[in-house]
Amino acid sequence: MIRAAIFDLDGVIVDTAHYHYIAWKRLASEFGITLTPVHNELLKGVSRVRSLEIILSLGNVEVSEAQKVQLAEKKNNWFVEYIESIRPEEIFPGVKELIQQLRKKKLKIGLASSSKNAPRVIELLGIGPEFDTLVDGTMITHTKPDPEIFLLAAHKLGIDPADCVVFEDAEAGVEAALAAGMKCVGVGSPEQLGKASKIVARTGDFKIEWLNDLK
Ligand code: BG6
Ligand code: MG
Repeated sequence: MIRAAIFDLDGVIVDTAHYHYIAWKRLASEFGITLTPVHNELLKGVSRVRSLEIILSLGNVEVSEAQKVQLAEKKNNWFVEYIESIRPEEIFPGVKELIQQLRKKKLKIGLASSSKNAPRVIELLGIGPEFDTLVDGTMITHTKPDPEIFLLAAHKLGIDPADCVVFEDAEAGVEAALAAGMKCVGVGSPEQLGKASKIVARTGDFKIEWLNDLK
């Protein structure tokens, strides 16, 4: 029986995935690399430095560790600039209602985002109180597809991983949830997220009646 729902943030609760994309695209263009939406799928859910490494490998670009730190920071400064104008109205339709319905069913609600900016995004959206626990990129050693982040969230919620469902838009995130022994609702396309227990186009499309039928 599902007793907790754990939400990813970027691309599941709000469209910050888009801001990550345009910031990475801007950085990639400085190396003559044209980042496409197909490449972008590889960047979702993974850490900042890992994303940078993936982009540089697309252009066969090699840089020192010190340059990597500088480049990751440059991208992050743009991202932080972009997100400052985010408002609560940008929370995806139906997300708050879904959380309320899950709560009514006595589920615990967690947030598990690889992003170190997650606390700021949550603050700008004003949805901190919706969650029983928040886990972000500053609290983990290994990012998705490693299950660490979801296992930590389940531990903090006091719920067995087998009784948790994760909402994820990233292929790496779906893999992480399944590796944690959890059910996973993929938010996006079946081509990307085929391994998920259930796939919806938008988070708010998930029907509470499906909760205990997830494979
Ligand atoms: C994830 C995003 O939520 O956070 C990734 O899907 C991003 O695209 C990662 O790279 C790390 O984010 P940040 O804000 O710490 O650079
Ligand atoms: Mg995401």
